[in-house]
Amino acid sequence: MTTSQQPRVQWQGRWSFLLAATGSAVGLGNIWKFPYITGEFGGGAFVLVYLMCIFAVGVPVMMTEISLGRRGRGSPVDAVRRVVNESGRGSMWSLVGWMAMICGFMILSFYVVVAGWSFAYVWKMLTGGISGTGVDDMVAVFTANNQNPLNLGFWSTLVTVATMFIVGKGVQKGIERSVSWMMPGLVLMLLLLIIYGLFSGGFIETVRFLFAFDAGSLSSAGMLAALGHAFFTLSLASGAILTYGSYLPKSASIGRTAIGVAIADTIVALMAGLAIFPAIFANGMDPGEGPGLIFMSLPLAFQSMPFGTLFGLLFFIMLSMAALTSSISMIEATLSWLCDNKGLSRPQAAWSAGIVLWLVSTLAMLSFNIGADWTLLGKNFFDWLDYLTSRLLMPLGGLGMVVLAGFVLKNETFRDELSLPPSLYAVWLFMVRYVSPLGIVVIFINALGLYQVTITADWPWLLGILVVMVVAGEALSPRIGRASAAR
Ligand code: TRP
Repeated sequence: MTTSQQPRVQWQGRWSFLLAATGSAVGLGNIWKFPYITGEFGGGAFVLVYLMCIFAVGVPVMMTEISLGRRGRGSPVDAVRRVVNESGRGSMWSLVGWMAMICGFMILSFYVVVAGWSFAYVWKMLTGGISGTGVDDMVAVFTANNQNPLNLGFWSTLVTVATMFIVGKGVQKGIERSVSWMMPGLVLMLLLLIIYGLFSGGFIETVRFLFAFDAGSLSSAGMLAALGHAFFTLSLASGAILTYGSYLPKSASIGRTAIGVAIADTIVALMAGLAIFPAIFANGMDPGEGPGLIFMSLPLAFQSMPFGTLFGLLFFIMLSMAALTSSISMIEATLSWLCDNKGLSRPQAAWSAGIVLWLVSTLAMLSFNIGADWTLLGKNFFDWLDYLTSRLLMPLGGLGMVVLAGFVLKNETFRDELSLPPSLYAVWLFMVRYVSPLGIVVIFINALGLYQVTITADWPWLLGILVVMVVAGEALSPRIGRASAAR
């Protein structure tokens, strides 16, 4: 329980929250993960489902989360519990908060390893670049960097310490300033890479790969991956955005912020795709290479570009900064919980969370060397952390959030927080109550192999289910208010 009754810290400037939320959203997910899973799941159709997930599920969930945070003014656990109590519902629902907080911690445990790769590449570029010019050379550099646990552990430890140092200092300082120059810088570097790709071959294939829709190419595993990635890239269902929302002043517009963040995040991801794949196609690499994809392909592009080492250096610096503005958001939920419930100061909370994080992330780091064969059902520890969070915890957590918002809590809560014009509010309610849950459930059913959904063949009865849900939902919800009568 919170004992102190001091008002919660709030974001200072008008743009702080937008910057911080964008900083959280734009990260390794956009530049490292999006290209490599797009490669794994075959391109265009995956990208389309991903975009649908961002705007039909991601944006409404983000609005829900920010509202829950601002209403409950606390860590995910506390905020959800307060909001649920306010509506007179059982505290079982705070499980949604717990799940989110734990999920954020799990993600960070493998995120610092990937961020460590980026830091290591900054160092490589600083100390004379990478030798060799072929694909095999790049693969060898990446593999060598992973092979020694002391080397790889050094970099992930560095990221852990840097993250804890920043969050220990406080909420706003640092985040705001670093995001405001880093984002434009990152976009500029991506533009440069895209222009380079235009002239060095592979660009046409890239555009075809990313944007040509081939309905047959998407597996149900791919659909689940697209949904999971939509949550991941927007930092949803893992406490980050909810906790940032808890520092949001009452006057800020939640809807506009959520859409702004989603658009910025999508632009960066698509730009990253356009920047990265030309080098892959021009050099005959396999787009399905896996997690090492950008660390093998991009150095190849830098290698053959004038001033390549300099540009490479700048690129990996930006990437590392983008990773840090994301990693600090992932631990913020835990920190806020420790401070509010365990009476720790921010630095104390940062160091205690940091030690646990370091232990778990070290295990994840070992998956790339001595622990490569510590596997369970064919996945090592790193893969499990990624799999459990993206394919299970985040979609389920998101489902919990929308059910909470759509059916459990009183309508006033969100009408107040979102303060949208009535028609837009009705759209939001319609999305969280019907579209997002149906989308999440269908993708799950698909992924469990219970039924193979193909949109082209199954849309009539999917639409039918939606209609039944709407009719039933509207008829059964006099207590919580009808979406159609939302005002
Ligand atoms: N969205 C970030 C990215 O794309 C990652 C991230 C930050 C995140 N905070 C999160 C993912 C919280 C899940 C949950 O790199």
